[in-house]
Amino acid sequence: MSTDRFGVYVHVPFCRHRCDYCAFATFTDRDHLMSRYSEAVVNEIRRAVNAGMPSADTVFFGGGTPTRLAPDLLTSMLAAIPSTPGAEVTVECNPDDVNPAMIEAFVAAGVNRLSIGVQSMVPHVLRSLGRMHDPRNVANAVRFARAGGIDNLNLDVIYGVHGESVDDWRRTVEEVMELDPPHVSAYGLTVEGGTPLAEDPSRHPDDDLQAEMYEVVDDLLAAAGLANYEVSNWAEPGRECRHNRIYWSQGDYLGFGSAAHSHRDGRRWWNVRTPDRFIELIEAGESAESSAEVLDEEQRRLEGLQLAIRMREGVPRGSFSDDDLRMLEGLLTESGDRLVLTRRGRLMANEVSVRLR
Ligand SMILES: C[S@@+](CC[C@H](N)C(=O)[O-])C[C@H]1O[C@@H](n2cnc3c(N)ncnc32)[C@H](O)[C@@H]1O
Ligand code: SF4
Repeated sequence: MSTDRFGVYVHVPFCRHRCDYCAFATFTDRDHLMSRYSEAVVNEIRRAVNAGMPSADTVFFGGGTPTRLAPDLLTSMLAAIPSTPGAEVTVECNPDDVNPAMIEAFVAAGVNRLSIGVQSMVPHVLRSLGRMHDPRNVANAVRFARAGGIDNLNLDVIYGVHGESVDDWRRTVEEVMELDPPHVSAYGLTVEGGTPLAEDPSRHPDDDLQAEMYEVVDDLLAAAGLANYEVSNWAEPGRECRHNRIYWSQGDYLGFGSAAHSHRDGRRWWNVRTPDRFIELIEAGESAESSAEVLDEEQRRLEGLQLAIRMREGVPRGSFSDDDLRMLEGLLTESGDRLVLTRRGRLMANEVSVRLR
């Protein structure tokens, strides 16, 4: 489990273009707010620091598209965050945005990990996803990162896209592995409510095809030395994402910026969704918190199991009834005194999860 104690997330709610499968809180028409937004985030961070925020073991800039910001805006926010020596500092990137000057500015500011949104290496699949980038920019982004001194890289890919064959998907994974990343996140395309994709059932993914694609990626990554450590995440030993591990082990984190979520000791809260409202509130000296919830002991325990079952550490044996264990045969396996998902189990993680007790 994670030995990291505290994470900081910074949300960057700007994108060049809205992908029609995406439900993240991000905007394409508010670039004029970038500078005021970054200042407001710095203010929000300073208030937290003054209120006793601990030093961060991990920092994650997510979005949206953090690389849509001028690097000095991003690094001004990073400079406001106190961190522990050796902290993991990740920036989510669009491969089209990455260039040597950006990497230089990031490295000087302490960024040591990039998560690059590749999605696919096959042009017609990228088009089907409504993505604009040229797949060759992925190799360039990786090259610039390494040349500038960042070798802790994650590549994000999506499978099960309308029109994508198993061979297309294999090609994406093989081309990604030619770049030798130490970490890959592979997500089955999910139909998120309220998106244009949700309104077009003819483009919805097929479950059986997605299952086959999951097996393809798992085989290819395992053969390349990347072990699955969470249903959708694979890494070389020691290169697992420490920030995500804080989320998955119910650790404490503070989120800054619009729509950012925070958690401390069972209390969860989240900020207002739009950058406009966020800026207004912070500039007026008010809190940007929108709502909160407090989990009771039992909810926290159960949620802890639901997160743990998705990870290779698994859950204690007694977490399922004997009847459920019989019913879930083939989906779980013993590992020491724990139960972990088999590969077939990983494909049905949600179904297994509802049986936890
Ligand atoms: C905030 S985005 C990463 C950075 C950048 N905005 C991008 O899209 O490249 C986080 C990741 O979530 C994944 N994602 C977003 N929407 C998804 C969906 N509907 N189904 C599956 N994966 C999704 C993509 O792999 C994406 O890289
Ligand atoms: S998937 Fe990434 S680039 Fe596309 S709209 Fe969502 S956050 Fe922006």
